[in-house]
Amino acid sequence: MSNRYNDKSWQDKMRIQIDLNYMFEKYIGSKHGIKEKEVNELKDNVKKADQNIKKQYKAGKLGFIDLLVGQKDITQDIMSFAEKNKGKFDNFVILGIGGSALGSIALQTALKDPYHNLKSSAYPRIFVADNVDPVRFKSLLNTLDLKKTVFNVISKSGSTAETMSLFMIAKKTVSEAVGEDKISEHFIATTSKNSGYLRTIAKRENFKMFYIPDNVGGRFSVLTPVGLLYAAFVGIDIKELLAGATYMKEICSNSNLWENPAYLQGALQYLAYKKGKQISVMMPYSDQLKDIADWYRQLWAESLGKEKDREGKLTNVGPTPIKALGATDQHSQAQLYMEGPYDKVITFIEVKDLSVDLKIPEIYQDIEGVSYLGNKSLKRLIDTEKKATELALLKRQRINNTIIVPKINEFTVGQLFYLLELETALVGELFNINAFNQPGVELGKNYTYGVFGREGYQDMKKEFDLRPEKKDKYII
Ligand code: PA5
Repeated sequence: MSNRYNDKSWQDKMRIQIDLNYMFEKYIGSKHGIKEKEVNELKDNVKKADQNIKKQYKAGKLGFIDLLVGQKDITQDIMSFAEKNKGKFDNFVILGIGGSALGSIALQTALKDPYHNLKSSAYPRIFVADNVDPVRFKSLLNTLDLKKTVFNVISKSGSTAETMSLFMIAKKTVSEAVGEDKISEHFIATTSKNSGYLRTIAKRENFKMFYIPDNVGGRFSVLTPVGLLYAAFVGIDIKELLAGATYMKEICSNSNLWENPAYLQGALQYLAYKKGKQISVMMPYSDQLKDIADWYRQLWAESLGKEKDREGKLTNVGPTPIKALGATDQHSQAQLYMEGPYDKVITFIEVKDLSVDLKIPEIYQDIEGVSYLGNKSLKRLIDTEKKATELALLKRQRINNTIIVPKINEFTVGQLFYLLELETALVGELFNINAFNQPGVELGKNYTYGVFGREGYQDMKKEFDLRPEKKDKYII
C-alpha cells in the first residue's frame, strides 16, 4: 500500500471543504437565512462547547478524537491478523448492529467496488447481518459455504440481544458444518476488553479477540477495530483512513470559528434548528457515499435526540436526520424539499473526481428530446443535477450547503468520519446535552429482556403484561 498520505501536497489536494454560502441571509433572504451576526453572537457558546469537549477528552472520555495515536499497536495487530488469514476465507460476515455495523457498511460502500461480492476474484466477499429477521439470516447461512466463512461478532456491551442471538445461531450452525473443534477458527469477537458476556464467551471458546476502547462510543467507533478489522481483511488501507481522520482533526483544531469546518457547520446547523429547521437532510450525489449518510443518520439521531439537558432539565431536543441520494431522490424527495415546510437544512455531498466516467453516445440525433444528451458524460449530468437542485432550493429560500470531497479514497473517508463526529460533539454541547449516551433506547430493550425471561427484568415483564389493551375497533 502506498503512503501517499504522508505527502503534504497530496493531503492538501485531498482536503475536504464545506461550501456554506447558501446557509446565509445574503443569499437566502432574511426570513430563512442565517446572519453572520448570529454566528458571531454564538462564538462564546462555541468556545465554551470546545472547552467542554477538550475537558472531556483530557479526562479520557472522548477516545474518538485520538484514534491514530491511541491505536498504533491495535492497527499492527489487525494488519498482521488480516495478512495471516489472507486467502483463507471466501466470506467475511459481520454480526453487529447500530454503531457496530453502520460504519463498516459505510466503508464497504465507499471504498469497495459496488459489485464486489459478485466478482470471483474479490474474496473475501462481505456480508453484514444486523437485523434479527429470520428470513434473511437463514438464507445467508444456507447460501454461504460455512467452511470458508469467518464471522466477526461485534458488540461493545457484549450483551445486545440481536447480535448475541445471531451469534448463537451462527455458532450452532457453523459447528455442525465444521465440527466443534474447529469453531474458534471461524469466529472473531470484537468487544470491550474489560466486561461483557461476549468477552466471557470468546475467552471460553478461544476466539481471536479485538477490543473496542472503552472511551469510544458505538456510533463513534468506525475507526477502531469495529471497522478497521473488516477494512484490513478486504484490502482497505487502514493507515490511510486514520491519517485522513488525523488530518481533519488538525484542520478542526483551528480556534477561529470561521475557519473550523466542523464547528462552523455545527454552529449553522444549530442556528438553523433554532430557526425551526429541525430536519437535517444529508444528500450525497454519489452512490459510494450513500451509506455515509446512513451512518450519519444514526450518529446524529442517537447523539442529539435527548429528553434532558446536562442539568437534568426537560429539553426534548434533536434534529431529525434524513438520508437521501442524489440524483435518485430528486424523483422521490425533492418535491417536498422544494415546496413543503421550511423545516429542513439540506447538506449535499459532491465528489469532484469520481475516477470513472461514461460518455453518453451520440445516437438518436433526430429525436430532439434525447439528442441533447449525446456526447455529454454521466459525471457532468450528476454534477449539473446537483447544481441545479442547489440553485432551485436557493430560489425557494431553502438553506443548503455542500461538503466537497475531492476524490473518494481512504484519506477522504477518514476525514469525513472525523468531521461529522466532531460536529456532532459540538452540536451536543450547544444543546447542552450528553451526546454520548442513549438512555432512550433502554426502555424498549428492557421490556424485551423481561418478556424473554432475563434475570432481573421481572418488573419489566409485569409492566409489559399490563400494557394498555388495544381496541379491535381501531384495527380495521
Ligand atoms: O451507538 C451506540 O452506542 C449504539 O448504536 C450501539 O452501537 C448499538 O446499540 C450496538 O451496541 P453494542 O455494540 O453494545 O452491541
